[in-house]
Amino acid sequence: MAFQLGPFLTSKPMKSLSFKLPPIADRSLGSSKSMSSSLRSGATSKEIENVKKSSIPRREAHVQVTHSMPPEKIEIFKSMEDWAKKNVLVHLKPVENCWQPQDFLPDAASDGFEEQVRELRERAREIPDDYFVALVGSMITEEALPTYQTMLNNLDGLRDETGSSLTPWAIWTRAWTAEENRHGDLLNKYLYLSGRVDMKRIEKTIQYLIGTGMDPRAENSPYLLFIYTSFQERATSISHGNTGRLAKAHGDTKLAQICGIIASDEKRHEAAYTKIMEKLFEIDPDGAVLALADMMRKRITMPAHLMYDGCDVNIFFHYSAVVQRLGIYTAKDYSDVLEFLVGRWKVEKMTGLSAEGRRAQDYVCRLIPKLRRLEERAGERAEEALTIPFSWISDRLVKL
Ligand SMILES: [Fe+2]
Ligand SMILES: [Fe+2]
Repeated sequence: MAFQLGPFLTSKPMKSLSFKLPPIADRSLGSSKSMSSSLRSGATSKEIENVKKSSIPRREAHVQVTHSMPPEKIEIFKSMEDWAKKNVLVHLKPVENCWQPQDFLPDAASDGFEEQVRELRERAREIPDDYFVALVGSMITEEALPTYQTMLNNLDGLRDETGSSLTPWAIWTRAWTAEENRHGDLLNKYLYLSGRVDMKRIEKTIQYLIGTGMDPRAENSPYLLFIYTSFQERATSISHGNTGRLAKAHGDTKLAQICGIIASDEKRHEAAYTKIMEKLFEIDPDGAVLALADMMRKRITMPAHLMYDGCDVNIFFHYSAVVQRLGIYTAKDYSDVLEFLVGRWKVEKMTGLSAEGRRAQDYVCRLIPKLRRLEERAGERAEEALTIPFSWISDRLVKL
């Protein structure tokens, strides 16, 4: 999933470009003032400490908008069902043709298991710690899958009403989830076997993240969420692809293969989501371009932006900084994805829009050169690299 820094930090929210390094390397818990404020006056230090331990860091919350799509637009999705059957479901792979995590992992039922694990660990030994921070972040993001299925099932006009509904939208959501489920499984098992990471603290981060959820600000609108998923699937494909290339550069072709196979799934998902949006651009050009501008104004934020590991309130920013420094997902990639989508949906060439639609079109088209300029400036302003400990790798230090 993609790596835009979100507006939810307790301190110094990022205002301009999403990929600036975090302003501070602060491993402390969130403000003790804000945490203790929920306690009665005169609380003992032990009580305050207990609240600190049990609290997820407090984050600034914006007003959450829900169900913003006009009810009459639900009909659009009803009328698209036959089209979706023929054009969206084709991007799913039959289970029998799908790879499974076991295809890329040592087989615990075979005699060669121990030898295969030993080889995997030898290969992993050659890979630097910062790479593992990036890979762990990726795995944690994939593992928060229950949240993403919830997002899709919150969409007006599309949700799976029964849990086994036969509408093409519901079939897509369940099968997409089932395909995605292999990604977290595979990366999780690989990382466990590698012996290079602190699994308990990673597991804790996953539990925090699923418990916290996400906030892409999609307002239960399929228009907004499909802009988001189009962006995310492409971004994820890029980041898994780059993670694979780096693994290869570190001499681990098997890990490179793992990342590559996941990247190719994401590409298939991107094809489906961008096709749905393409159809919406055709049926309802105003609605589609307004949704694109709206999401870009809000900025596309990585689904794991509310990540917390139990000790570093800025873990997401720190992780994003490492990912950016390693070239796995950068500010340039963010602009590239937007430019690709604008081209894919022929946004610049749209005609016959309302005045509001033209303003949205204009905003999106002008945003690309603006992001490019910000990228350049961010590159020129290379900040002093901080080094911080990451819980995921037993508090070993990594440069941001
Ligand atoms: Fe995935
Ligand atoms: Fe995906």
